[in-house]
Amino acid sequence: MTLSIGIHDIAFATGSHRIDLAELAARHGVEANKYYVGLGQSEMSVLANDEDVVTMAATAAKRILDRGDSRAIRTLIFATESGIDQSKSAGVYVHRLLGLGSDVRVVEVKQACYSATAALQFATALVARSPEEAVLVVASDVARYELDSNAEATQGAAAVAMLVTADPAILEIEPITGLYTEDVMDFWRPNDHTTAIVDGKLSITAYITAAISAWQDLAGRGGPAYDSIERFCYHQPFTRMAVKAHRKLAASVAGLDDEAADAQVAGTLEYNRRIGNSYTATIYLALATLLDGDEDLAGKRLGFLSYGSGAVSEFFTGIVQPGYRERSRAAENLALLDARTVIGDERYLELQRFSPEDVANFVTARETTGPFRFGGVDGYKRVYEAV
Ligand code: CAA
Repeated sequence: MTLSIGIHDIAFATGSHRIDLAELAARHGVEANKYYVGLGQSEMSVLANDEDVVTMAATAAKRILDRGDSRAIRTLIFATESGIDQSKSAGVYVHRLLGLGSDVRVVEVKQACYSATAALQFATALVARSPEEAVLVVASDVARYELDSNAEATQGAAAVAMLVTADPAILEIEPITGLYTEDVMDFWRPNDHTTAIVDGKLSITAYITAAISAWQDLAGRGGPAYDSIERFCYHQPFTRMAVKAHRKLAASVAGLDDEAADAQVAGTLEYNRRIGNSYTATIYLALATLLDGDEDLAGKRLGFLSYGSGAVSEFFTGIVQPGYRERSRAAENLALLDARTVIGDERYLELQRFSPEDVANFVTARETTGPFRFGGVDGYKRVYEAV
């Protein structure tokens, strides 16, 4: 009998602040509906100065560890494209903050927004080899573009943690996947840049090409039939992108009209609409919001399209497990989004412009509402602490 492997638990974390995109629209001199409707985004998360990809990742993973599971975590894979060190894995800081044992391998993986999906696939292989072990996959990113650029409204920040095990309680990942890789310069961040460089229009066409091509690879390898898939979770740099891409796919593969296509991504957009782009994490926030919805999806097949600029994409599928709702965090998740402090444009700009004069030594002010904080830098060493 084939071993069932997949996501046993999933939890997310985000920044302590949020800004309504109407504030950005006012500064940019455009109608708020350009962002609310045109991009499908209502607000975005903003990090406090003592938050970063490590504190968000540790916070998301802590929610999983606090719930407990008897299987030992032997591997922690940290997926990010907003890494905080050129050498050391951000996951090693998370490992200490969580109090994991020394007998755990830790590594960071990168390929723009795609790498969490690579991490998930690597995790399933590790569990197939040692089914008594669990793998902790954490996707954590902060999306940053130039202030006043077209891309500014598509920023955001979040981390999603997933426990990958045998006999998963939430989603069994199916083995056939579709892949597509092409060297394209649609979005990148040179080593000396704190913000990404993006060719916005090219990135949209590159995303759509990659989505359709990955689907074709999946179909060519005998993957599940299109009409056996109940819902599709996409990478969501902004939620309208998922709608746009799915309309193209649904029309080309199944001849569906826009209305029918939209129904297949319904229920996957809400968390990203309120958080903004969190790069590696968005596709798994799409899953989290879908599972937190009213519809009972037990036994249903879901499709996933992961896209990372540059570009790599993967289409895979999974089966929602019976009883998955017993692990629901729906109320907690909504409370977490609502609890973020609403900030105005002035405070947001202050936070975005924060740039210490002495990068070797600085101390951050206490601000986060989360359980871990980034205390600053001491002799080029980043300092993290439990609050
Ligand atoms: N009411 C309603 N809709 C409005 C409107 C109004 N008042 N004004 C404009 N709109 C609509 C436009 O018609 C458009 O919709 P359509 O594309 O459906 O026609 C939408 O709002 C956006 O308007 P523009 O195309 O004029 O927007 P823009 O050029 O200023 O910027 C963007 C859009 C290119 C996506 C820019 O935000 C950007 O560069 N973002 C970063 C790149 C990105 O997210 N790319 C996505 C694919 S790459 C990827 O997925 C990886 C990743 O995470 C980065």
